[in-house]
Amino acid sequence: MIALVFGVGVTLSIFSCKHSPLGMDEDVTPIDTTGNNNNPDTSTAGTPCDPNVVYFEWDILPILRSNCALSGCHDEASHEDGVVLTTYEKVMSTADVDPFRPGNSKLYKMITDNDPEDRMPPAPNQALSSAQAGLINQWIQQGAKNESCDQNAGVCNTDNVSYVQDIRPVIQNNCLGCHSGSAPSGGVLLDSHANVAAAAGNGRLYGAISWQNGYVPMPFGASNPLAQCTVDKIKSWVDAGAPNN
Ligand code: HEC
Repeated sequence: MIALVFGVGVTLSIFSCKHSPLGMDEDVTPIDTTGNNNNPDTSTAGTPCDPNVVYFEWDILPILRSNCALSGCHDEASHEDGVVLTTYEKVMSTADVDPFRPGNSKLYKMITDNDPEDRMPPAPNQALSSAQAGLINQWIQQGAKNESCDQNAGVCNTDNVSYVQDIRPVIQNNCLGCHSGSAPSGGVLLDSHANVAAAAGNGRLYGAISWQNGYVPMPFGASNPLAQCTVDKIKSWVDAGAPNN
């Protein structure tokens, strides 16, 4: 495990983390597409998630984890500029989040900076998508809370799973920060249908997200797997031959 973490550190430490804050307020319509995580808080077991609420644990943290909380950047050890983006408490105490006011929050200003040198994540890393920035905007507008709900309450429909509707958004928010670019983690690229289908076809995609023996559990560093319904949908799509639908 230590060797693993060290290896990731070496791979990722080439990323630059310099920036200076300057930001634009943006009016984006967020789409909540993540479907991430089992519910770690048993007190909300059985409470269905409200589609209008942005949940830090499964909507925001996966985005920060795969794009920002990397070695050399904003993990606990590197804490560039004193900013640590690994937990709710750390985000609230180090990233200058002003609840209800995204335009006043450094976290939001940094990710929407127009200058690629100042923006977070900095070039050559890709900017967050407007949907991801929109989610962070909406989370702050809702008071930057740490609400909980049960992602597995309700019915899980695994019929006719669509790559575009169901699979790609999950990959984008939970995986792509590490599995894109010229040096993707583990040599696994997930930036196109063809590449995701390749990982599906060789069994590594499902092995990794279902935390099977013999595979490194994904999302890397997460304390829980993706929501069971999300895992089941991905399995159904893989079993259907990973179509580009
Ligand atoms: C924080 C970075 C990070 C995130 C986020 C992440 N991964 Fe990974 N992934 C890695 C690293 C690092 C490895 C290589 C691990 C190793 O080989 O020790 C890896 C390996 C893999 C592998 C190969 C596993 C194996 O044992 O063969 C697959 C498949 C994979 N990731 C898929 C995903 C998927 C799907 C997601 C999102 C649900 C995801 N990853 C999220 C960093 C990440």
